[in-house]
Amino acid sequence: MAKTRTIFVCSNCGAESLKWAGHCPQCEEWNTYIEKEVSTSPSEFTPTPAQELDSVSLDDTPRLEVHFSEFNRVLGGGIVPGSLILIGGDPGIGKSTLLLQVADAMSQGKSKVLYVSGEESISQLKLRAERLGIGGENLFILPEVRIESILDQADKMAPQLVIVDSIQTAYLEGAGAAGSISQVRECTLRLMRWAKSSGTPVFLVGHVTKEGAIAGPHVMEHMVDVVLYLEGERFSINRILRSVKNRFGSINEIGIFEMRDKGLYEVTDPSQALLAHRTDGSIGSVIVPTLEGTRPLLVEIQALTNPTSYGTPRRTANGVDFNRLVLIAAVLSRRGGITLANQDIIANVAGGIRINEPAIDLGIALAIASSFRNASINSGLVAMGEIGLSGELRHVSQLDRRITEAANLGFKTCILPSPLPTGFSSPNGINLHPAATLIEAIKAALASR
Ligand code: TYD
Ligand code: MG
Repeated sequence: MAKTRTIFVCSNCGAESLKWAGHCPQCEEWNTYIEKEVSTSPSEFTPTPAQELDSVSLDDTPRLEVHFSEFNRVLGGGIVPGSLILIGGDPGIGKSTLLLQVADAMSQGKSKVLYVSGEESISQLKLRAERLGIGGENLFILPEVRIESILDQADKMAPQLVIVDSIQTAYLEGAGAAGSISQVRECTLRLMRWAKSSGTPVFLVGHVTKEGAIAGPHVMEHMVDVVLYLEGERFSINRILRSVKNRFGSINEIGIFEMRDKGLYEVTDPSQALLAHRTDGSIGSVIVPTLEGTRPLLVEIQALTNPTSYGTPRRTANGVDFNRLVLIAAVLSRRGGITLANQDIIANVAGGIRINEPAIDLGIALAIASSFRNASINSGLVAMGEIGLSGELRHVSQLDRRITEAANLGFKTCILPSPLPTGFSSPNGINLHPAATLIEAIKAALASR
């Protein structure tokens, strides 16, 4: 008879312990430990022989390409067979729309696609498909939440792609209350095993909590192969698909879409699209060449300063990191000659995109300086650089790609940290203006009108 023993497992992060604990020491969550029986008898297994790397061939696992080049790029060049891909995002941002369009693109290439929805009825799905102009040959829809019947259908149908919308509605008998952490975890595990054993890629939709994490256990992000986020502001048309984890490609790769009345459209020239609404010589606006994954992207940073009317000055960050904004405001006050102690500051990245890299520090600082001094910045100017606590400018990676993108879009001057790397020459005749400190950069930018 198999012997079993009781252990306790954190349903959030998967940490194990012999004793129950109210507070998980690993992920710091409360009340997540649940009891689990484990077998102590030695399990039977067939050993797998090691293979010489030289003899491994990749030819038998071609990626599935979707007729959606932005989507392929974010995935690192198509869908890897047998992979489990999580797509997270706020409710209403367009996850279902995007996946239905991906399903359509795949089914038109004569691949069978199974779209499982636990959130919408067949008629709701049909309505959406009609709106998107999707006919639906080779595209099968299944309104179902029970994971066992989903996998049973998938086994019978043998599709080339399965989409489960969403993991929060998936349900497995005996794995706790619907929507609970242990449900999400167990269901993800089942889908993972099925994807690996059948070699069929599975897309999973996951809702995002207010804090920005995919609702459910952290362990889910560890389990899946790829995590993509669809982000953007609900009322702006830009949507950004970002890979934050990818076992088969680089991360932080982004794809840019526009949500129009017939679904999501790829934006092939994103810098141009993001700068489309810019007016010449406006105050508090700076263009920064950022790098998202492998792609340079020009974004507009805007800032507004306004005297604080009561109490502590407020800082509001949209699309930039809040703590970074606080740091930059402090450095501007102490080392940049711009007194912000009695000023509210709002900083914003135009177009609803979020930028995390420190190369935008200088752009944020110059936008604030421009607003504070009520002085516009030349519209042919771009700026980049990380700001240190003593007001020095630090280098950013891949200068030439960023500057080339700016030059291609007709920008004439670039303020960047000095000294330039040895042997660096400005591409395409754009004027480089190296600055060692924040003060120098502010002088150069505000004099450039
Ligand atoms: P949806 O894909 O349902 O979001 P999610 O699955 O992430 O919750 O997107 C819903 C929103 O998108 C809804 O507010 C309407 C809008 N929308 C369009 O603007 N155009 C369209 O063609 C479609 C289908 C939806
Ligand atoms: Mg949805």
